[in-house]
Amino acid sequence: MRIAMIGSGYVGLVSGACFADFGHRVVCVDKNANRIAALKEGEVPIFEPGLEDIVASNTAAGRLAFTTDLAEALERVDVVFIAVGTPSRRGDGHADLTYVHAAAREIAEASPSTVVVVKSTVPVGTCDEVSRIMGETGPGKSFEVVSNPEFLREGAAIKDFKKPDRIVVGVDNDHARATMAEVYRPLGLNPGQIQYTTRRTAELIKYAANAFLAMKVSYINEIADLCESVGADVSEVATGIGMDARIGRAFLNAGPGYGGSCFPKDTRALLKVAQDAGARMQLVETTIAVNDARKRGMARKVIAAAGGNVRGRNVGVLGLAFKPDTDDVRESPALAVITALQDAGAQVSAFDPEGMDQARKELRDVTFADDAYSCASGTDALVLVTEWDSFRALDFDRLRAEMNTPVLVDLRNVYRGDEMARRGFRYVCIGRPDESRRPGLSEAAE
Ligand code: NAD
Ligand code: UGA
Repeated sequence: MRIAMIGSGYVGLVSGACFADFGHRVVCVDKNANRIAALKEGEVPIFEPGLEDIVASNTAAGRLAFTTDLAEALERVDVVFIAVGTPSRRGDGHADLTYVHAAAREIAEASPSTVVVVKSTVPVGTCDEVSRIMGETGPGKSFEVVSNPEFLREGAAIKDFKKPDRIVVGVDNDHARATMAEVYRPLGLNPGQIQYTTRRTAELIKYAANAFLAMKVSYINEIADLCESVGADVSEVATGIGMDARIGRAFLNAGPGYGGSCFPKDTRALLKVAQDAGARMQLVETTIAVNDARKRGMARKVIAAAGGNVRGRNVGVLGLAFKPDTDDVRESPALAVITALQDAGAQVSAFDPEGMDQARKELRDVTFADDAYSCASGTDALVLVTEWDSFRALDFDRLRAEMNTPVLVDLRNVYRGDEMARRGFRYVCIGRPDESRRPGLSEAAE
């Protein structure tokens, strides 16, 4: 099949490259001329494990091409995907649909009749509006608009795209449905893994999924706070409840709060959808509030670990991306922690394996280090915010020698209290009792 992908960001580029890898012919379009120029030179502008290889091999095989010229991309295509951004609208939290509407207009002007698939995450009713805009812009043409939300995660995007748990297709027309079946046929999914439904339901499934996962993370984070108050261990609670198949262990890792380009904006957008419909969504409302407070509150944990005051003191931050294996720092908890530490008077140094370029655009007065050890140099506390693999086996003798005061605040529970105590560190983590004082554990570890 011949596919045009409008928007070549995380979702557009991954989807386009994976469709090409399955044998379709794909043209990825983007308005950002620098991005397209880089892609034409074989440079992938985002960090996503495995993406560079499949972009290179499919470009070489002639199945994947890049252009800024929409009209050229739309020549003889069977299906057009819209994968442009839907950020939070400034001020009110609604999803900003400017880019989606613009793409719809541009397609309607440049294309003859075709199937148009909205892959961007959009509020309920957006496909209806896209349909209306396209009908108005291209009278006499016939566009079949489909909702096909995307569920991939950054950092695991290729695997998620190629082996999805499910594909959701919101469609009200037989030809468009058959086209979508053909688009996804090469994935070899079981029939039960493709859910055909209405466009409005498909649009809501996407928000409901993200909000549920965000709520699950916030729930375990609140349990972690309770664990700290009552002397229980949140990791063991997560294991204990996660073994119940009705609950599941995934998304029960307590941490500094969820971030990224999706959970924060999508929970806010869902709330707006509900408010506009006159429905209350108290759980989602509370999830947002709990998470916002948590991200800010993590700095207080660091300040307490550093002795109650960080004015004029140095704090190192390991991890800037909102999660490992991505360079994306959008709404990353690290940014909130750093800003709050700076407000409290700390000098901050930071290091991230991939997120430094993006973080530089968001932060002021931060010393960006070359590695974890130079980040720790001269610090009174080191905070692990993102659990990159390269932070999982740090050389603590070397770190202790670099630091003014050996304090580690581990916001991802990567290390163990008894181990850190043996290495001479004051150690603070999330929702776990001080393991160095738990009877039997230190002896067992000897
Ligand atoms: P992104 O910001 O990385 O990329 C969007 C791209 O679209 C940009 O490169 C921009 O230049 C381009 N663009 C905007 N308007 C255009 C137009 N009219 N023509 C051509 N190009 C245009 O965004 P993203 O992270 O890929 O997200 C895209 C959508 O997918 C969002 O709705 C998001 O919520 C959803 N989503 C994202 C993820 C993720 O992991 N990032 C996962 C699932 C769903
Ligand atoms: C999330 C969803 O998982 C995807 O299914 C969805 O497609 C995507 O949003 C989207 O709509 O864009 P992503 O934001 O890439 O994917 O990352 P996640 O792995 O979901 O993590 C989100 C945040 O939650 C991160 O800050 C992460 O550190 C945090 N998290 C996640 C936890 O704190 N604990 C957990 O147990 C899991």
